[in-house]
Amino acid sequence: MAVASGRIPSAFIDDLLARVDIVDVIEPRVQLRQRGRSLLARCPFHEERTPSFSVSREKQFYYCFGCRASGTAITFLMEYDGLGFVDAIEELAARAGLEVPRTGPGRGEAGRPDPAAGLDPVYAVLDRANRHYRRQLREHSGRARAVDYLKSRGVSGELAARFELGFAPPGWEGLVSALGDAGGEVLERAGLVARRDAGTHYDRFRDRVMFPIRDRRGRVVGFGGRVIGDGEPKYLNSPDGPAFHKGRELYGQHQVLRGRGSRPARLVVVEGYMDVVALAQFGIDYAVATLGTAATRDHLQQLYRSTDEVVFCFDGDTAGRDAAWRALEQALPLMRGGRKASFLLLPQGEDPDSFVRKHGAETFETAAAKAAPLSELMFSTLESEADPSSLEGRARLVERAAALIATTPAGAFRAMLANRAAEAGRMTREEVEALVRGARGSDRRSSGEGRPGGGERPAGTRARDDGRAPSLVRQAIRLVLHQPSLARVAVRTEDMMGVIERLEQRGAPLLAELLRTAGADQRLTTAALVERYRDHEAGPHLARLAGESLLIEDEDARKAEFTGVLSGLRETDRRQRLERLRTRMRSSPLGAAEEREYLRLLAEDGGRRTPAGRTRPRSLRR
Ligand code: UTP
Ligand code: MN
Repeated sequence: MAVASGRIPSAFIDDLLARVDIVDVIEPRVQLRQRGRSLLARCPFHEERTPSFSVSREKQFYYCFGCRASGTAITFLMEYDGLGFVDAIEELAARAGLEVPRTGPGRGEAGRPDPAAGLDPVYAVLDRANRHYRRQLREHSGRARAVDYLKSRGVSGELAARFELGFAPPGWEGLVSALGDAGGEVLERAGLVARRDAGTHYDRFRDRVMFPIRDRRGRVVGFGGRVIGDGEPKYLNSPDGPAFHKGRELYGQHQVLRGRGSRPARLVVVEGYMDVVALAQFGIDYAVATLGTAATRDHLQQLYRSTDEVVFCFDGDTAGRDAAWRALEQALPLMRGGRKASFLLLPQGEDPDSFVRKHGAETFETAAAKAAPLSELMFSTLESEADPSSLEGRARLVERAAALIATTPAGAFRAMLANRAAEAGRMTREEVEALVRGARGSDRRSSGEGRPGGGERPAGTRARDDGRAPSLVRQAIRLVLHQPSLARVAVRTEDMMGVIERLEQRGAPLLAELLRTAGADQRLTTAALVERYRDHEAGPHLARLAGESLLIEDEDARKAEFTGVLSGLRETDRRQRLERLRTRMRSSPLGAAEEREYLRLLAEDGGRRTPAGRTRPRSLRR
């Protein structure tokens, strides 16, 4: 519980966050201005004119009041630079001159060694393999076939260099012998070789044009190899392994992001390696490709970290339309704060490579700019699949729409989709929204994904949108996040933790746990506390609450407020226990201990309003 990182001890993360100043991490990337006790900037995570991105040195935390992005220095590196959790930790540790300790099994895979542990030799050998294949394209005696093939596909030397294209010559042991000193086991983990029954290794990629795949950090993580001419399989890809996951990497992403001073206004997602290369050749240098798989949520999250507008480009056949629909489903939960998704279905038989060569860059870019917005694809598909002229058809249409709308984060976009669904179904917006709420209730899981602020919140910390004051539990959670040292007040107040643990209220167990965590270590900052909950169900919401709390600045006021909230919780507990005893005594008389408790609880009523023993319950009168 509340273990932030699995194999990286949370004490190390606390220490790291205490040593690295979040301002130093953010400042080089985002221009910050002092405003009160916080620093303010235009948010790097969404387009805006007036600054609503705030960074607090005290809390080591950032928050955007516009798009609600929030987090610690670790989160910032993950979101802004697209690093994984462990990579972000490593980057911060390197700055602080700390060695990252690794203990126990890897996260999420209890008992198994961490797949990312000891990966350095794997990355090193992948890098060497890349250089090897490139050298073969320049030097190997059989290079002409590969060079001619690339020429026949219209790939210039400059583009081949930019994409680091290479050549794996025919033969079973070229790489094995060139990189044999790295060890067969490392080559195998890198996905570069396969093993014969006899235990010897042979090259995976033979007689192919090689496309190296770099991750966002620029490391070579895998390859795609295209057969020269016709043959099967047309493309051979590195198998998924410790360094490479097809569902995570995007071909060309490194080239798109490298050396760019600003975020690209738009990214185009295509299906093929050659599509990326051909588009780049025509000056369209903002295309990336999935690696023979449908776009995953992970892909899309990465894309939207880099841009606000993603254009999905698919072939205009049935497979392309299916792929577009799957991408739409994955994109819906991420649609917030000015993000856009649109879909470009090419004419039958064309892919971006052939299209741009036939019609030119301008036509492609115009088509991309005019691509169907997500909402349009969504409703045109739903309307083509259910007959809107019949009541039954409209009902089906609206139900499918509601299920999809339910996966989107609250906001203008969701409201507009609901409006559009209402139109299509000839219903009122309220009726559609009721269906959406129903769909959310019945499918929590599909809507709980995404970043802070997106999706459903865990029970007990849900924002009140009914106009009532936030619950005491929620207030307490917010205050502890705001000033973790307050936890000691609760931990040291007699029976306070008992009270909170007994409370029958959403969020109470989370509050108790937060108090215990923060109470045990006085040095914990807001950032450290939030990091403890990174993998916790409530993590995203805690991060958001922590961000909101940047608004309250006065420390004394906080403590008074916290004490007040604790008394409130005590009173709630008293009433709940009284209520339980009252319910009990309706069925049978109370035992002696229960009776004592009952009297005591009555006497405690504010300590004032009810003198002890005055109102004895009927069942107790003799
Ligand atoms: P395509 O067949 O559309 O690729 O497959 P392409 O880039 O247009 O191929 P050519 O070179 O122009 O003929 C799209 C993607 O699907 C994956 C590859 O990632 C490819 O880029 N794929 C395709 C495979 O992994 N294996 C295959 O055999 C075929
Ligand atoms: Mn093609």
